[in-house]
Amino acid sequence: MGLIQQDIAIDMGTSFTRVYLRGKGLVLSEPTIALVETNGQENFVHYIGEDASMMVGRAKEEWKIISPVQDGVIEDFDIAVSMLTYFIRKAIGKHNLVGPRVIIGIPSNISQVEKRVIRQALRSAGAKTVRLIPQVFAAAKGTGLPVYEPEGNMVVDIGGGMTEVAVISLTGSVVSKAARIGGKKMDDAIMNYIKREHNILIGERTAEDVKLDLGAALPLETERRVLVRGRDIVTNLPQTSEISSTQVYDALKDPCMSILGLIQWVMEHTPPELGGDIMRNGIHLTGGGALLLGLDRYIAEELGIPVLLAKNPMDCVISGLGYLADHYEMLERESKRGFFREE
Ligand SMILES: Nc1ncnc2c1ncn2[C@@H]1O[C@H](COP(=O)(O)OP(=O)(O)OP(=O)(O)O)[C@@H](O)[C@H]1O
Ligand SMILES: [Mg+2]
Repeated sequence: MGLIQQDIAIDMGTSFTRVYLRGKGLVLSEPTIALVETNGQENFVHYIGEDASMMVGRAKEEWKIISPVQDGVIEDFDIAVSMLTYFIRKAIGKHNLVGPRVIIGIPSNISQVEKRVIRQALRSAGAKTVRLIPQVFAAAKGTGLPVYEPEGNMVVDIGGGMTEVAVISLTGSVVSKAARIGGKKMDDAIMNYIKREHNILIGERTAEDVKLDLGAALPLETERRVLVRGRDIVTNLPQTSEISSTQVYDALKDPCMSILGLIQWVMEHTPPELGGDIMRNGIHLTGGGALLLGLDRYIAEELGIPVLLAKNPMDCVISGLGYLADHYEMLERESKRGFFREE
């Protein structure tokens, strides 16, 4: 087993990292976080991914949770390398001596320098070769769209940190736009709302739980309520308050409108023939944020275009990248012909 060439695909998202092993499928899906001890100038990584997530609130107070990837860009190089090394070993097995060939998804709007940082991080983590693939293309492939046809298809990938909208035709994206709006912005909107209206500061996790429980892009038919626990901003003491689904809907209006605005911008900049294809084929939603209740219906009603929520939206990017890992030789051939070119 020690000298086998393995090919893997990695989707290192703001919230989750997913790894696909060629011939095996999705082998790992863990939070993109590390629990780190900061000791003067040095960082010592104690736990990564699922392990770090389980230790939150149980570890020493000085240890910090660090998310080394923000919106598809590596913000903390050393921690990203530790994390990639750990995930790659976990995926391919500790005893393999040959570095894997790695395919990784990237946002389409990142700079040359940011691309170089991703390559370097993966090489430091043991990758033999690195291929960067636009993640929105992978999302389109992963949701089953005919990306090799001259037909236009629109994909909207709503992740934790970012939303990327692209019109894809013949394996290239014709028009695309990305912005830092996603699941985390929705959580922030809920946090800010509760702070403003209830004078209570809640944590990110609580905000996300409220979103998963009551969040919707359209008003719920039957109003629901939950209790949230936080800290009173005046007295600084622990406090609980009740929040309704209508309030959460109010809080989420802004981020939903921003996502809609991004889609409208791309629609307006799409060549008319491809626009016609999209009107016919619909808009395809992927990414975890797409699971927000009613978001598909909200976009469809606002734009008058059919909207289709992908099956397993959070796994579309890794499935698309995984397809390329399973067809690595085709990917190499196509790259020579100019497809998947990295500008
Ligand atoms: N049912 C749901 N309703 C609303 N949001 C959800 C739901 N399920 C998951 N999410 C959100 O989806 C986000 C994670 O999605 P995903 O895994 O696609 O992001 P990512 O790939 O890590 O991030 P990015 O692509 O922005 O770097 C989180 O913010 C999570 O709260
Ligand atoms: Mg993502």
